[in-house]
Amino acid sequence: MLIAGNWKMFKGPAEAGAFCRELRDADLPDDVDVVVCPPYVSLAAAAQALAGTEIGVFAQSCHWDREGAFTGEISAAMLKELGVYGSLVGHSERRLYFGETDETVARRSAAALAEGLHVIACVGESEQERDAGETDAVLRRQVSVLESDENLVIAYEPVWAIGTGRTATPEMARQAHETIKEILDVPVLYGGSVKPDNAAELLAQPGVDGALVGGAALTVDSFVAICRSPS
Ligand code: PGA
Repeated sequence: MLIAGNWKMFKGPAEAGAFCRELRDADLPDDVDVVVCPPYVSLAAAAQALAGTEIGVFAQSCHWDREGAFTGEISAAMLKELGVYGSLVGHSERRLYFGETDETVARRSAAALAEGLHVIACVGESEQERDAGETDAVLRRQVSVLESDENLVIAYEPVWAIGTGRTATPEMARQAHETIKEILDVPVLYGGSVKPDNAAELLAQPGVDGALVGGAALTVDSFVAICRSPS
Protein backbone atom coordinates (compact mmCIF):
# COMPACT_ATOMS: atom_id res chain seq x y z
CA MET A 1 0.00 0.00 0.00
CA LEU A 2 1.35 3.41 -1.02
CA ILE A 3 -0.08 6.74 0.10
CA ALA A 4 1.28 9.80 -1.69
CA GLY A 5 0.50 13.42 -0.86
CA ASN A 6 0.53 15.75 -3.85
CA TRP A 7 1.00 19.25 -2.47
CA LYS A 8 0.57 20.98 -5.85
CA MET A 9 1.54 24.68 -5.55
CA PHE A 10 1.33 24.79 -1.75
CA LYS A 11 4.01 25.07 0.96
CA GLY A 12 7.28 26.92 0.48
CA PRO A 13 10.50 25.58 2.07
CA ALA A 14 9.81 26.73 5.65
CA GLU A 15 6.31 25.27 5.76
CA ALA A 16 7.46 22.10 3.99
CA GLY A 17 10.24 21.56 6.51
CA ALA A 18 7.89 22.03 9.45
CA PHE A 19 5.30 19.67 7.94
CA CYS A 20 7.91 16.97 7.27
CA ARG A 21 9.38 17.19 10.77
CA GLU A 22 5.91 16.67 12.19
CA LEU A 23 5.22 13.82 9.76
CA ARG A 24 8.54 12.19 10.67
CA ASP A 25 7.45 12.05 14.30
CA ALA A 26 3.91 10.84 13.56
CA ASP A 27 2.74 7.30 14.20
CA LEU A 28 2.69 5.84 10.67
CA PRO A 29 1.90 2.18 9.99
CA ASP A 30 4.91 0.04 9.02
CA ASP A 31 3.14 -1.64 6.10
CA VAL A 32 2.25 1.59 4.28
CA ASP A 33 4.77 3.38 2.05
CA VAL A 34 4.38 7.11 2.53
CA VAL A 35 5.44 9.74 -0.02
CA VAL A 36 5.18 13.52 -0.16
CA CYS A 37 5.37 15.56 -3.38
CA PRO A 38 6.31 19.17 -2.55
CA PRO A 39 6.86 21.93 -5.13
CA TYR A 40 10.42 22.04 -6.56
CA VAL A 41 11.64 24.83 -4.28
CA SER A 42 10.64 22.85 -1.18
CA LEU A 43 12.16 19.51 -2.18
CA ALA A 44 15.49 20.16 -0.45
CA ALA A 45 13.82 21.15 2.82
CA ALA A 46 11.59 18.07 2.68
CA ALA A 47 14.46 15.73 1.79
CA GLN A 48 16.52 17.13 4.63
CA ALA A 49 13.73 16.83 7.20
CA LEU A 50 12.96 13.26 6.11
CA ALA A 51 16.56 12.03 5.71
CA GLY A 52 17.03 8.65 7.38
CA THR A 53 13.29 7.91 7.41
CA GLU A 54 11.26 5.60 5.17
CA ILE A 55 9.16 8.51 3.89
CA GLY A 56 9.93 9.27 0.25
CA VAL A 57 10.16 12.70 -1.36
CA PHE A 58 8.87 12.98 -4.92
CA ALA A 59 8.86 15.91 -7.34
CA GLN A 60 5.66 16.78 -9.22
CA SER A 61 7.18 16.46 -12.70
CA CYS A 62 10.56 16.17 -14.38
CA HIS A 63 12.03 16.75 -17.80
CA TRP A 64 13.21 14.04 -20.21
CA ASP A 65 16.68 15.43 -20.91
CA ARG A 66 19.54 15.53 -18.43
CA GLU A 67 20.19 19.19 -19.18
CA GLY A 68 19.62 21.68 -21.97
CA ALA A 69 17.85 24.80 -23.13
CA PHE A 70 14.49 24.10 -21.49
CA THR A 71 13.61 27.18 -19.47
CA GLY A 72 11.61 26.40 -16.37
CA GLU A 73 12.22 22.66 -16.44
CA ILE A 74 14.08 20.36 -14.02
CA SER A 75 15.80 17.08 -14.93
CA ALA A 76 15.69 13.72 -13.19
CA ALA A 77 19.45 13.92 -12.59
CA MET A 78 18.99 17.23 -10.77
CA LEU A 79 16.28 15.72 -8.61
CA LYS A 80 18.49 12.78 -7.72
CA GLU A 81 21.30 15.11 -6.73
CA LEU A 82 18.89 16.69 -4.25
CA GLY A 83 18.05 13.34 -2.63
CA VAL A 84 14.64 13.10 -4.28
CA TYR A 85 13.33 9.54 -4.62
CA GLY A 86 10.84 9.85 -7.46
CA SER A 87 8.49 12.04 -9.44
CA LEU A 88 4.88 12.34 -10.43
CA VAL A 89 4.34 12.72 -14.17
CA GLY A 90 1.30 13.54 -16.25
CA HIS A 91 -0.94 14.94 -13.53
CA SER A 92 -4.19 16.10 -15.11
CA GLU A 93 -3.45 19.71 -14.10
CA ARG A 94 -0.26 19.50 -16.17
CA ARG A 95 -2.19 18.01 -19.06
CA LEU A 96 -4.94 20.63 -18.76
CA TYR A 97 -3.00 23.84 -18.10
CA PHE A 98 0.52 23.19 -19.37
CA GLY A 99 0.11 21.32 -22.62
CA GLU A 100 1.28 17.95 -21.34
CA THR A 101 0.41 15.18 -23.81
CA ASP A 102 0.53 11.39 -23.68
CA GLU A 103 3.80 11.62 -25.57
CA THR A 104 5.49 14.10 -23.21
CA VAL A 105 4.21 12.16 -20.20
CA ALA A 106 5.75 8.99 -21.62
CA ARG A 107 9.06 10.74 -22.24
CA ARG A 108 9.17 12.20 -18.74
CA SER A 109 8.34 8.84 -17.22
CA ALA A 110 10.95 6.93 -19.25
CA ALA A 111 13.69 9.45 -18.45
CA ALA A 112 12.96 9.47 -14.73
CA LEU A 113 12.93 5.66 -14.60
CA ALA A 114 16.16 5.47 -16.59
CA GLU A 115 17.75 7.81 -14.06
CA GLY A 116 16.72 5.46 -11.25
CA LEU A 117 13.83 7.53 -9.91
CA HIS A 118 10.50 5.98 -9.01
CA VAL A 119 7.54 7.30 -11.01
CA ILE A 120 3.86 7.81 -10.29
CA ALA A 121 2.24 8.41 -13.69
CA CYS A 122 -1.25 9.92 -13.55
CA VAL A 123 -4.07 8.99 -15.89
CA GLY A 124 -7.82 9.55 -15.84
CA GLU A 125 -10.85 10.56 -17.88
CA SER A 126 -12.67 13.90 -17.87
CA GLU A 127 -16.35 14.13 -17.01
CA GLN A 128 -17.21 14.59 -20.67
CA GLU A 129 -15.25 11.49 -21.60
CA ARG A 130 -16.96 9.44 -18.90
CA ASP A 131 -20.40 10.67 -19.97
CA ALA A 132 -19.58 9.75 -23.57
CA GLY A 133 -18.67 6.21 -22.48
CA GLU A 134 -15.02 6.75 -23.35
CA THR A 135 -13.40 6.02 -19.99
CA ASP A 136 -12.00 2.69 -21.03
CA ALA A 137 -10.58 3.99 -24.31
CA VAL A 138 -9.02 7.05 -22.65
CA LEU A 139 -7.33 4.93 -19.99
CA ARG A 140 -6.05 2.49 -22.59
CA ARG A 141 -4.64 5.35 -24.67
CA GLN A 142 -2.96 7.07 -21.70
CA VAL A 143 -1.52 3.89 -20.20
CA SER A 144 -0.38 2.14 -23.37
CA VAL A 145 2.30 4.79 -24.06
CA LEU A 146 4.02 3.95 -20.75
CA GLU A 147 6.64 1.23 -20.47
CA SER A 148 6.33 -1.23 -17.63
CA ASP A 149 9.03 -0.92 -15.00
CA GLU A 150 9.46 -2.22 -11.49
CA ASN A 151 9.66 1.39 -10.28
CA LEU A 152 6.51 2.54 -12.09
CA VAL A 153 3.21 3.10 -10.32
CA ILE A 154 0.08 4.47 -12.01
CA ALA A 155 -2.40 6.79 -10.33
CA TYR A 156 -5.95 6.61 -11.62
CA GLU A 157 -7.42 10.06 -11.06
CA PRO A 158 -10.76 10.76 -12.73
CA VAL A 159 -10.43 14.45 -13.59
CA TRP A 160 -13.98 15.22 -12.43
CA ALA A 161 -13.10 13.94 -8.95
CA ILE A 162 -10.00 16.08 -8.41
CA GLY A 163 -10.51 18.87 -5.91
CA THR A 164 -14.26 18.65 -6.34
CA GLY A 165 -15.26 16.64 -3.28
CA ARG A 166 -16.70 14.04 -5.65
CA THR A 167 -15.06 10.63 -5.68
CA ALA A 168 -15.41 7.71 -8.01
CA THR A 169 -17.60 5.06 -6.46
CA PRO A 170 -15.56 2.14 -5.19
CA GLU A 171 -16.99 0.15 -8.11
CA MET A 172 -15.85 2.76 -10.69
CA ALA A 173 -12.38 2.73 -9.16
CA ARG A 174 -12.28 -1.07 -9.17
CA GLN A 175 -13.24 -1.18 -12.86
CA ALA A 176 -10.76 1.48 -13.93
CA HIS A 177 -7.96 -0.18 -12.01
CA GLU A 178 -8.80 -3.48 -13.68
CA THR A 179 -8.59 -1.86 -17.13
CA ILE A 180 -5.23 -0.30 -16.31
CA LYS A 181 -3.82 -3.55 -14.95
CA GLU A 182 -4.86 -5.36 -18.13
CA ILE A 183 -2.42 -3.14 -19.99
CA LEU A 184 0.35 -2.78 -17.42
CA ASP A 185 0.91 -5.04 -14.47
CA VAL A 186 1.92 -2.34 -11.99
CA PRO A 187 0.48 -1.01 -8.72
CA VAL A 188 -2.38 1.43 -9.26
CA LEU A 189 -3.29 4.22 -6.84
CA TYR A 190 -6.67 5.93 -6.72
CA GLY A 191 -6.78 9.73 -6.60
CA GLY A 192 -9.55 12.32 -6.54
CA SER A 193 -10.99 13.78 -3.33
CA VAL A 194 -9.58 11.05 -1.09
CA LYS A 195 -10.28 12.09 2.51
CA PRO A 196 -9.92 10.44 5.92
CA ASP A 197 -13.59 9.45 5.84
CA ASN A 198 -13.64 7.74 2.44
CA ALA A 199 -10.10 6.35 2.23
CA ALA A 200 -10.73 3.02 3.93
CA GLU A 201 -13.55 2.03 1.58
CA LEU A 202 -11.65 3.02 -1.56
CA LEU A 203 -8.46 1.33 -0.40
CA ALA A 204 -10.36 -1.87 0.34
CA GLN A 205 -11.28 -2.34 -3.33
CA PRO A 206 -9.50 -5.12 -5.19
CA GLY A 207 -6.77 -3.65 -7.39
CA VAL A 208 -6.53 -0.41 -5.42
CA ASP A 209 -2.93 -0.38 -4.21
CA GLY A 210 -2.91 3.00 -2.53
CA ALA A 211 -3.96 6.62 -2.92
CA LEU A 212 -2.71 9.88 -4.41
CA VAL A 213 -4.09 12.59 -2.16
CA GLY A 214 -4.27 16.32 -2.91
CA GLY A 215 -6.18 18.66 -0.60
CA ALA A 216 -6.37 16.24 2.32
CA ALA A 217 -2.58 15.77 2.24
CA LEU A 218 -1.94 19.39 3.20
CA THR A 219 -2.42 18.99 6.93
CA VAL A 220 -0.46 16.42 8.90
CA ASP A 221 -3.50 15.20 10.82
CA SER A 222 -5.63 14.36 7.82
CA PHE A 223 -2.71 12.95 5.81
CA VAL A 224 -1.69 10.69 8.71
CA ALA A 225 -5.33 9.63 9.16
CA ILE A 226 -5.42 8.53 5.50
CA CYS A 227 -2.08 6.70 5.88
CA ARG A 228 -3.54 4.82 8.84
CA SER A 229 -6.88 4.01 7.23
CA PRO A 230 -5.90 0.74 5.47
CA SER A 231 -5.19 -0.96 8.79
P1 PGA B 1 -7.61 16.05 -4.47
O1 PGA B 1 -6.39 16.01 -5.53
O2 PGA B 1 -7.34 14.94 -3.48
O3 PGA B 1 -7.55 17.41 -3.87
O4 PGA B 1 -8.84 15.78 -5.26
C1 PGA B 1 -5.87 14.79 -5.98
C2 PGA B 1 -4.79 15.04 -7.01
O5 PGA B 1 -4.93 15.98 -7.82
O6 PGA B 1 -3.77 14.33 -7.04
